Amino acid sequence: MSAIIIVGAQWGDEGKGKIVDYLAKKAEVVVRYQGGGNAGHTVVVNGKKTVFHLIPSGILNQKICVLGNGMVINPQALIKEIKALEEAGTRVRKYLFISDRAHLILPHHIVEDSSGLGKKLGTTGQGIGPCYRQKIAREGIRVADLVFEWPKIKSYLKSKYSPREYRQITADLKKFLKILKKNIIDVSLKLANFDQKRRKIIFEGAQGTLLDIDHGTYPFVTSSSATAGGALTGSGFGPTQIKEVIGVAKAYTTRVGEGPFPTELKNSLGLKLREKGGEYGATTGRPRRCGWLDMVILRYACRVNGLTSLAITKLDILDDFPQIKVCDAYAYQGKILTDFPASSQVLERCRPLYKKFTGWKKDISQIRKERLLPGPTKSYLNFIEKSLKIPIKIISVGQDRKQTILV
Ligand code: IMP
Repeated sequence: MSAIIIVGAQWGDEGKGKIVDYLAKKAEVVVRYQGGGNAGHTVVVNGKKTVFHLIPSGILNQKICVLGNGMVINPQALIKEIKALEEAGTRVRKYLFISDRAHLILPHHIVEDSSGLGKKLGTTGQGIGPCYRQKIAREGIRVADLVFEWPKIKSYLKSKYSPREYRQITADLKKFLKILKKNIIDVSLKLANFDQKRRKIIFEGAQGTLLDIDHGTYPFVTSSSATAGGALTGSGFGPTQIKEVIGVAKAYTTRVGEGPFPTELKNSLGLKLREKGGEYGATTGRPRRCGWLDMVILRYACRVNGLTSLAITKLDILDDFPQIKVCDAYAYQGKILTDFPASSQVLERCRPLYKKFTGWKKDISQIRKERLLPGPTKSYLNFIEKSLKIPIKIISVGQDRKQTILV
């Protein structure tokens, strides 16, 4: 029993890629279990930046990397990502495995996602929602269909596309199969074999708790299970084999796209967080909305994911704030809410109640030991730990792999 799930505790972009990359040193397998090219996981090693969309961040450590059945895969985007990584000197096909049960994103999903509802919700326009909708309607096309069911694919494509588009798409799918056929496997079986041999498996969540289709700020969410439960359904791995669930949270809060955000700072402090934190979407380049840390959200993330510890990222971004605030509860219609509400309408009307902390006003980006952190930084972290009743296991004080404190 040595599997770990790593999940985003906020609205995504918490720095999961960096944490997975850091922990992947001691693992043998890294599994993506939900989402698709909507994710943008950034990893910096010795100043060199790599952004992953579909491939698990563990590939930089040359570990076995798996795309689980819970994912939706755009075949062309995957080939492009593999090519870019291989051209930059990272071997990918030797280590990559793709679930035969994952669903495929086709061009009409992308067209649909870039208009109407997708636009209103501020999606990434990658075809994610329309593809999952087809999956749930039991009309989707899976990776296994490419291998075993060409007649089904052909009639499906003929019903959706013009003859010219049909020819192009079938050619693209054949190319995908030619390049990656050997990498298509039964993921559940492979993971069970690894687990029996006590090999360490990391499940790499994409997006975050509040973007989860069930537990997030519906309808302003993604279409997959971004919480810890998704790691199981999205890979075919059993719950009894999970040893740890690590939540990744930024030292403040961000969100992209539409939807309520109680601690959002629509002032110069929000702009300062955005500029210092480089808060622009890794997939779409959109500026992220920024605000103070929200403990109502983190307590909720602890509960729905069963977190056993926390990784706090981007702590250095708060270095020159004279005062730092943390929301500990919401005021709503004369009442105090300490639990995260289900309704986006209610959340929209919640006013954050803040605790104030003195800033440390020091550069912490070169510190590598927790005991060397300034007193006010320790007070900030102690408050988070006490409030969540779980330990902070990792502290990230910069983008680079080296800028990490293991507590
Ligand atoms: P979709 O996942 O493209 O359908 O977008 C649904 C919502 O999730 C939008 O608000 C997106 O901005 C957000 N979203 C999707 N992927 C990410 C991510 O990796 N980080 C942050 N937000 C994301």
